[in-house]
This record gives sequence, structure tokens and C-alpha cells, in this order.
Amino acid sequence: MQWQKNSWRNFNILQQPTYPDQNALKAVETKLASLPPLVFAGEARSLQKRLALVNDGKAFLLQGGDCAESFENFSANGIRDTFKVLLQMAIVLTFAGGCPVVKVGRVAGQFAKPRSSDTQTIGDKTLPSYRGDIINGYEFDEQARVPDPQRMIQAYYQSASTLNLLRAFSSGGLADLREVHRWNLGFLKNSNLDEKFKSLSDAITQSLDFMEACGINSINSPSLRQTTLYTSHEALLLPYEEALTRIDSLSGEPYCCSAHMLWIGERTRGVNDAHTHFLSGIKNPLGCKIGPNATASDIISLANILNPQNIAGRLNIIIRMGAQLLEQNLPKILNEIKKEGLNIVWSIDPMHGNTKTAANGLKTRDFSAIMREVRSFFEIHKACGTVAGGVHLEMTGQDVTECVGGSIGISEDQLQNHYQTQCDPRLNADQALELAFLIADLVKARV
Ligand code: PEP
Ligand code: CO
Repeated sequence: MQWQKNSWRNFNILQQPTYPDQNALKAVETKLASLPPLVFAGEARSLQKRLALVNDGKAFLLQGGDCAESFENFSANGIRDTFKVLLQMAIVLTFAGGCPVVKVGRVAGQFAKPRSSDTQTIGDKTLPSYRGDIINGYEFDEQARVPDPQRMIQAYYQSASTLNLLRAFSSGGLADLREVHRWNLGFLKNSNLDEKFKSLSDAITQSLDFMEACGINSINSPSLRQTTLYTSHEALLLPYEEALTRIDSLSGEPYCCSAHMLWIGERTRGVNDAHTHFLSGIKNPLGCKIGPNATASDIISLANILNPQNIAGRLNIIIRMGAQLLEQNLPKILNEIKKEGLNIVWSIDPMHGNTKTAANGLKTRDFSAIMREVRSFFEIHKACGTVAGGVHLEMTGQDVTECVGGSIGISEDQLQNHYQTQCDPRLNADQALELAFLIADLVKARV
């Protein structure tokens, strides 16, 4: 079938809300289609070029952010802290890992959530599941759980203002390498980690002093004072994504201008389904999550549909199997796919295959399982002669207690102290930075 931005409507589709008022939905789609794009197609192309470097092992992809953004927890401080922790991680990877880093936030559009069950039961009450703030409300309340298309408009404006602030932070001074000491979030509880980051920032400052003495400074070399943070989210709610798909005036090609990069989730990646069809037609760089039941031929079929021209940097396969199943399954998958000569940016999401329920009922993830999956991912790639290209994380700059372990040693009993996520447990700033130091060593050992 000829691709059009609405041709996904002819395919089988999973994980969509049922809007009670179709006219209200239509009106919102029309409104969204008339609003300005959130990103420019040229930016998506520049991300693809940078991902082509990742494909060749010449750069590293750092992708991270909330599991789900929320309307209620939307604040400048929250955006700033996530930005700072991403910068901190990126600088650790660049300096200690010795590799340029492509930074992609799960931000400014990461609202819609796939659910394993259509309903949620508490006590004797059963309601439709919460599907993310762009669809329905989090409160366990009948009215709140009814899908409301107006939420798409709110998500659009929240994404626009988030993006506006991120762009200001990226070029307005906060990302200046001279500010590296100030990226520390203040609540680092692990003095060892704090020390490690301080000595790295001191070394950077010394290098900047030396470069300045040689005449290289942030006035003649703008890359010292600004950075680029690209945005991404799961393209789950297709009426929203369709409305933000536009024909780029320069190339004449369709781009989905809700984010620079979009990915398909593990639950909606059927090769004959609507999500895969929709993403196949847009020219943005794409991601696809791959869980433990996938085979090499599933990935090859997806690559043939999503990247038929085998363009380097277009397709990011995001493995999320859980530490143990990754060790069992990935070597065979990589060896088979290697023979096909496909250009794939491989990254590891060590979060979604390592989720468990703590004794107190809270969803959590163990830092040691996360680390084990990351380490195994690098080791398996090295043994296969392929490139471990990046990581995909759920993390926040906030001082939360959602994942257990790490050198700050969050225990299951402490989870309830600052458990704030509306969806999956995230690494806090300490845990994210600790992971970055560990990943830097693995990146350094890639070649
Ligand atoms: C996610 O990234 O939040 C998510 C739902 O992932 P997956 O599709 O891998 O389960
Ligand atoms: Co998640």
C-alpha cells in the first residue's frame, strides 16, 4: 500500500485508547494539524548524520529521560535537572570514555504509555488502565480514566515549552564547559562519586585553560559553550503523530515534527501493524524496542521495512531483554544479523527487562541487574565484532528512590521515601552518574 500519513488507519493497531466522542477527536486532530511543528526536519537530518557516526563506532548514543512525562510534575526545575544530569553523563562519557556523545532526551513528547493490561483493579474496583497524561488521568477515578482528546493539545503545548527551555539551556550558557562544576546537582549523596565528578571537572577546566592560552576559546569555538540535545519519544498515539507529520519544504519528504527521533515500543512492533507502517514512511531517525522473544529474523524483517535503503543512522535497535535473557539470546541474534550487512545502531535499554515488584508492592529495578545487562551488551558486541552503540535509560535529575542498589545503596524499605514516578522506576541523579562512569570504561574498551 502507498504510504500516506493517515494510511496506518488501514492496519491492525494495538494499544490505542477508545475515545468516546469521535467528533471531539476529529476537532483536536484538525487543530493539531494547524499548529506549528515542534522540530525542524533539518534537525532530524542532522541527528541522523550523527547517528551514522554511532553506527560506525565513532560516537556514542546517550538516550534518556522519564518513563512518562506528566502534566502535574511539569516544572522548569525538573527540566533543568534532567538536562544537567544528561550533560553530566555525556561529559563523563566524552572525557572518561574518550568518545563524542550524541544526546537524545526522552522528553518534550514522551507522554503515551503502552500497558500490559487494559484495566487496573484496586480492591473491588476495576477501571481502564492509565495510558499516559496525553490520553487519560492518573487518578484512580472513573471520570479521570476516560480518554480525552483535549489532552493532546495540552501535551503539545507542554512539549513546546519544554523544548523552548531545553533550546535555551543548550545555547544560552548552562551547557558552557566552563560551567561543568555547576552541573552537579547538589544532592549527590555518594561522596566518592562527588569526588570523581569534581576531579573530572577540574581536569576539563585545566584543559580549557590550556586551550584558551593557545587561543581556542568559547568565542571562536562555539562548541565549547553550547550543545545539542535532540528529543525523542515512543510514537504510540498515532492520531497525535499523524497531525504533526508535515512535508519538509526543503526535501519534499514527510517528517514527523513532534520530535527528532521516534521509536516503536516492544508491544506494538508487529511488522504488519499500524505503528511499523506509520514509522516506515516518515524520514526521521527511528528506534524500535526489542524484547526477549524476538528472533534475528524478526529484526531483519523490521529493518527491511523501516530502513529499506539501509541508510546508516536511520535505524536504532534498542535491546531490552533483561540481563539473563540478553546473555542467552543476543550472541546468536548478532551473529545472524551481521551476515546481512545491515546498518543498525545498536543500543541497550537495561531498564524494561529488569523490572520487578518489591515486597511492599512498588515496581522497582535493581542497579546491579541494570549494570549487568549493560556490561553483557558491550561484551557480546565485542565478541561478535559489532558495535555497542548506545544506552537508552529511564532516569531523572530528581532525588527519587525508585530503583534499588547503586553505591548509595537504596534498599527496598527506602523506596517509598521519594517514589514519584507515574509509570516505571527511574534511576536518580546519583545512580545515573554512577552508571555513566561504568559505561565510560566500557566505551573506552570498545576498540
Ligand atoms: C518505555 O520505553 O517506556 C517502554 C514502554 O518500553 P518497551 O516498549 O521497551 O516496553
Ligand atoms: Co518505561
